[in-house]
Amino acid sequence: MYLLGIETSCDETAAAVLTEDFKILASVVLSQDELHAPFGGVVPELASRQHLISIDYVIQECLNRSHLSLDQINAFAVTQGPGLIGSLLVGLSFAKGLAYYFEKPLISIDHLEAHIESVFLENRNIPFPVLALVVSGGHTSTFYMREKLSYKLLGKTRDDAAGEALDKIAKFLNLGYPGGPVIDKLAEKGDPKAFPFALPHMTDKSLDFSFSGLKTAALKHIKESQISKTHPRFFDFLASFEKAIIRALLANLNQGIKIFKPQSLILCGGVARNKKLRKEFMEFARKHGLHSFIPSPGFCTDNAAMVAALAVEKLKEQKEPSFPLDLNAYPRLYSFKGKTWKK
Ligand code: KG4
Ligand code: ZN
Repeated sequence: MYLLGIETSCDETAAAVLTEDFKILASVVLSQDELHAPFGGVVPELASRQHLISIDYVIQECLNRSHLSLDQINAFAVTQGPGLIGSLLVGLSFAKGLAYYFEKPLISIDHLEAHIESVFLENRNIPFPVLALVVSGGHTSTFYMREKLSYKLLGKTRDDAAGEALDKIAKFLNLGYPGGPVIDKLAEKGDPKAFPFALPHMTDKSLDFSFSGLKTAALKHIKESQISKTHPRFFDFLASFEKAIIRALLANLNQGIKIFKPQSLILCGGVARNKKLRKEFMEFARKHGLHSFIPSPGFCTDNAAMVAALAVEKLKEQKEPSFPLDLNAYPRLYSFKGKTWKK
C-alpha cells in the first residue's frame, strides 16, 4: 500500500509517500523562508499563493523520487488544521480533488498530532504512558498519551508560542526569519547565565504556558542595554533568552511528570531542532529515569512524512470516513477538545 501525505499548514509545501510499514519512499519539503524573510514573519496571503504555485510541483517531485504515479497511490492524507486557513485550504482542496478523481480514501490529519507522530515514525516501540511536548512556531502544548493515538491535552500556551517568541526577538534584532535557527547558532557563543530572566510560571498551577512575559522582559533588556549585533554582550543575551525558554519548557514537563508519572518523554515540533533544548531535554529525562525521544532534525520542522505516517496508523484503526469531501480546514487547536481517552 502507498500513502501520499500533503502538508501546507504554514509556510512549507510538503509531500511524502510512505508504505503501510512506515517506509518513507520520498519526503519533499519546499520552504517559503526566503519569500517571508523580508517581512520578518509569515505573510498569510503570500503563503497561500505560494502553496498554490508549488503544490503541483512538490507532489510531482515526490512521486518521481518514489518511482510511482498518482494512480498507484492507495490513499491520500492531508493536514486539516490547525494552521493558516488559506494555506490549509490549498492542501485540503488539492487532496480532495485527488481522492475524488482516483476514488481513493482521504484521511484528514491534525497538525499537532502529526508532530507527535513524527517521533513514532522513527521509534516504533516507545513505552507508554507518554508525556509529549509539542513546541512549534504556533503552538506550545503538552499532551498525556496513555496509549497510541490517545491524547489528553494537559496545557497550552495562553499567549505566544515558544517558537513565536524566538522569531519575534530575532526579528526585533534584525537577525532574519525564521529566528529560531539563527538564535540556536548564535547562542552557542554566549553565556546563558549572563542575563537574569524570571522563569514564567502559572499562578493557578495549570500546565499552561506563557511566553509573552519573557518576550516583554527580553525587549526591555534590548532597549535598556541597547542590545544589537555589535553589542559586546549580544551572544550572552541570546544564550540567556534561549536558556529561559528551555527552563520554562522543562519546568512544565517537571510538573507533568509529578502528576502523570509517564514512562517516556517525547519532544517534537520545529523548536525541537534546537541543539541546546535537545541536549537538556535528554539530560532532564535521564535524571528522572525516563525514556526520551526526539525526531531527527528534518522531521521536527513541518514535513509530510509525519502526515502520511499518522494516516497509516489511522487507516489501520479504520477510524476515518473514506471520502470526507465536505471536510473544512480549522485554524486553531480544537480537535483535541473533548477528545481525551480513547477508551
Ligand atoms: O513546527 P514548525 O516547523 O512550524 C509550525 O508548526 O509552526 O516550527 C517552526 C518554528 C519556528 O518558530 C522556528 O523558528 C522554530 O520552529 N525553529 C527553531 C529551530 N529550527 C526551527 N527554533 C529553535 N532552534 C532551531 N534550530
Ligand atoms: Zn508544525
